[in-house]
Formats: sequence, structure tokens, C-alpha cells
Amino acid sequence: MTILAELSEEDLEKYFEHTLEKDQRIEPRDWVPEAYRRTMIRMMAQHAHSEIIGMQPEGNWITRAPSLRRKAILLAKVQDEAGHGLYLYSATETLGADRTDLTERLVTGRQKYSSIFNYPTLTFADVGVIGWLVDGAAICNQVPLCRSSYGPYARAMIRICKEESFHQRQGFELLMTMMRGTRAQRDMVQDAVNRWWWPSLMMFGPPDADSPNTEQSMAWKIKRHTNDELRQRFVDMSVPQAEALGVTFPDPALEWNAERGHYDFGEIDWAEFKQVVSGNGPCNAERVEHRRRAHEDGAWVREAAAVHAAKQEGKV
Ligand SMILES: [Fe+2]
Ligand SMILES: [Fe+2]
Repeated sequence: MTILAELSEEDLEKYFEHTLEKDQRIEPRDWVPEAYRRTMIRMMAQHAHSEIIGMQPEGNWITRAPSLRRKAILLAKVQDEAGHGLYLYSATETLGADRTDLTERLVTGRQKYSSIFNYPTLTFADVGVIGWLVDGAAICNQVPLCRSSYGPYARAMIRICKEESFHQRQGFELLMTMMRGTRAQRDMVQDAVNRWWWPSLMMFGPPDADSPNTEQSMAWKIKRHTNDELRQRFVDMSVPQAEALGVTFPDPALEWNAERGHYDFGEIDWAEFKQVVSGNGPCNAERVEHRRRAHEDGAWVREAAAVHAAKQEGKV
């Protein structure tokens, strides 16, 4: 039997390529190229940060939910997002990342999270639209990631997607209820849709021509589809849902193209996207500051846990 330490770098690389070719999963103790490790850690960390920061816009409405039922649903949803963040931080640790370091990168603005969470939630209809469109876009992005080449990430994504699907449904159901309500409620829904539609399309990232990492991520089978493919899938899926709800999207160019078999849609404001990604969106500073404060407020819990663990060890 050959032990791993005796294999040359070249053999290890061949084994890695072979695993990918066979569509098998890369596992924590497998050898991986340094660039794969870095890319996976960055991707999982950004995803984890997005889940955690993503609790804020909706958390904003927990104390003001209009009924006990809506409050229970919203609480469950926001707690799910915390869980998603925790699985994903754990997954980064399987590649040697340090959670404290990742949190530090988030609160100092050195590591990013999804730009969508830098927009404000102005009315309760925003809670519904986030569930419907933002969690809907997340599902489009994440279902193919259940087949991502890195095993711990792919497996975490299976459970996350099941929960995201509940999030999407509760959002749609909330909006359907409001659409059956008063004129003012319907207007509130349409206004929220107008504000969230374009940022939701930006969630798929820059256009393929401007996305230099996509090719390598697809070769490593980390990603299975390009940004533009997923964005198109999301548009095609959302239009009939908007019709069922009785709302419109704020895009005069949105039109069925029989030749392509897809909806055409207007140009995304990439200048706005770049502004928000680089920290200048409407709520960037507030989101990061809130996270930093929450992390500091939790310091005593981490200290107490460490002391408790040390005491337990002393007993053995
Ligand atoms: Fe989530
Ligand atoms: Fe979600």
C-alpha cells in the first residue's frame, strides 16, 4: 500500500484531476491545489457571510410583524439563515480556514457578502419580496451547487436548498395574501417589487464576459453554470409567477422571445452593482457595523465557552 506522503506532487495532482473527471467529490483530507483551496474558502466564506448579514434586513421586521403567524414564520426563516451561516463556516474549517479570521475579514470589509443585503427593507411587503425573489434567486444559484465538487459544501447545500424553498414559498404566500387585500396593500407589494427586481438580477454576479473566475470554477466543477445562464433561468421562472401574483417588473424591455425560447430583458445597471459591491450601497456601513457590534457583544459567550472547555479537559 502506498502512503500519501510518498506520492509526488504530480501524482497527487493527477488523482485530483481524476476525481473531478469521474464527477466524484473532493473530501477534506484529499490533496487539492492551493488555488482550489483558496477559491473554495473564499466562496464558502462569502456565502456564510451572506447568510449571516442576510438576517438583518428581515430581522428588522420581526418586532413589527402584523400577526403572531407572520411573526412565527419570519422568526423561523431568520433562524434558518443563521443555521446556513454556521454550516458554511464549519465547511470552510474543513479546508483549514479559521472562523475568527473570517469574521474579522467580514467586519473589516476585507471579505464580501451578497450585495443584495445592502438595500433597506422599507415595508412589510419587502419581507414577502425578499422571500419570493431573493430566496428564489438564491435557490437558482444553489441547486446546482448541490453537485459542487467539494463534498462538505455540496452536502451542506442540500439541506440549505430545502430550507430556501420554504423561504421562497412563505414569501410568495405572504405577497398573495397582500394582493388579495386592500388597494394600499397591493400598491405596497408593487412598490417592493419595483425596488427589489433589479438588485435580485444582480445577485447572479457580473455578466459572463466580465467574470474572469467563472471559467476556472467551472473547470474545477465548483460552479456548474455561468452567471448569465442562471440569471436567464431566474427571469424565465419569475415572469409567470409575477403574472400569477398580479404584479409587474419594472423593465419595459422584458418580453418573450419565441426564437430564443427565453424572456429578453433590459440592461442591468452595472455601475450601481459596482458601487454596492465596493461598499457604497445604501446600507453597507450599517450592516457591517451591526455585525461588528453583535460579534463584540458575544465576546463573553466565547470566553465562557473556552473556560468551560478548559475545565472539562482538566477533569479528564
Ligand atoms: Fe439561507
Ligand atoms: Fe433563505
